[in-house]
Amino acid sequence: MNQATVIVFGVGTARGVGGAVCKRFAREGYHVFVAGRTASKIQQVVDDIMATGIGSAETLPTDVTDEAQVIAAFDRAMNPGPGREPADIVVSNAGNNAVIDFTKLSAAQFEDFWRVGCYSGFLIGREAARRLVPLGRGTVIFTGASGSLRGKPGFAQFAAAKAGLRMISQSMAREYGPKGLHVAHVVIDGGILGERLESAFPQMVQRLGSEGLLDYDAIAENYWMLHRQPKSAWTQELDLRTFKESW
Ligand SMILES: NC(=O)c1ccc[n+]([C@@H]2O[C@H](COP(=O)([O-])OP(=O)(O)OC[C@H]3O[C@@H](n4cnc5c(N)ncnc54)[C@H](OP(=O)(O)O)[C@@H]3O)[C@@H](O)[C@H]2O)c1
Repeated sequence: MNQATVIVFGVGTARGVGGAVCKRFAREGYHVFVAGRTASKIQQVVDDIMATGIGSAETLPTDVTDEAQVIAAFDRAMNPGPGREPADIVVSNAGNNAVIDFTKLSAAQFEDFWRVGCYSGFLIGREAARRLVPLGRGTVIFTGASGSLRGKPGFAQFAAAKAGLRMISQSMAREYGPKGLHVAHVVIDGGILGERLESAFPQMVQRLGSEGLLDYDAIAENYWMLHRQPKSAWTQELDLRTFKESW
């Protein structure tokens, strides 16, 4: 039997959602295309997977805001070589975040957040639809955040991008679900205990502690579950939060 393949876009450090999703699929024996923009980080994820001896992985250096690079990544993942199936699970995970005073938010900053948080989802989603709909199968998962559903002071740039991403996922799901493509959006409602939060918001990590923050491996488990869902009971939107979250 051929080896199944997955492509995960927007992978950063091994201690984040992207890296955890890569490892979760590798545990099932998948070949994982680890797509991200920082060579050392995606190489570490590949090394971790190869060290386990289960599944396999390769890096795919990709800036998800660059149309030509996203298309080239799909060209590679849809032609993975002998003994492997074309990728039929695509994850769009890139993200950035910062608290920025609205009156000080520059046009360039706003556009940059939109490019990473929303436009990348359009490029990845469109390419996935082009490649997977003719096959009549596949799963596309977009990573959202609390900002996908609500804006808060200092987060206009982030929430606007994530809300747009959510609408791309809904539009795609309604159009391509009946053609066999499962499109899902995951609202991660809270902070994740990982590299990004520890470096950008250390006070938050200290204040909330491990029980007040989401675990990236537990999140990745849900991505695997979404991909495994039978067609008769598909989730379009999944929200995840810790038991302690006040919402
Ligand atoms: N961390 C949280 O507390 C939190 C909470 C709710 C939702 N989320 C969402 O969850 C997702 C994963 O977050 P995470 O914190 O766990 O990070 P992660 O999965 O470890 O990494 C996401 C990566 O996206 C990458 N990225 C940014 N711009 C990119 C670009 N132009 N091209 C390619 N990759 C790019 C960054 O790579 P580099 O590191 O190389 O810059 C970043 O590390 C994001 O969509 C985020 O919005 C995170």
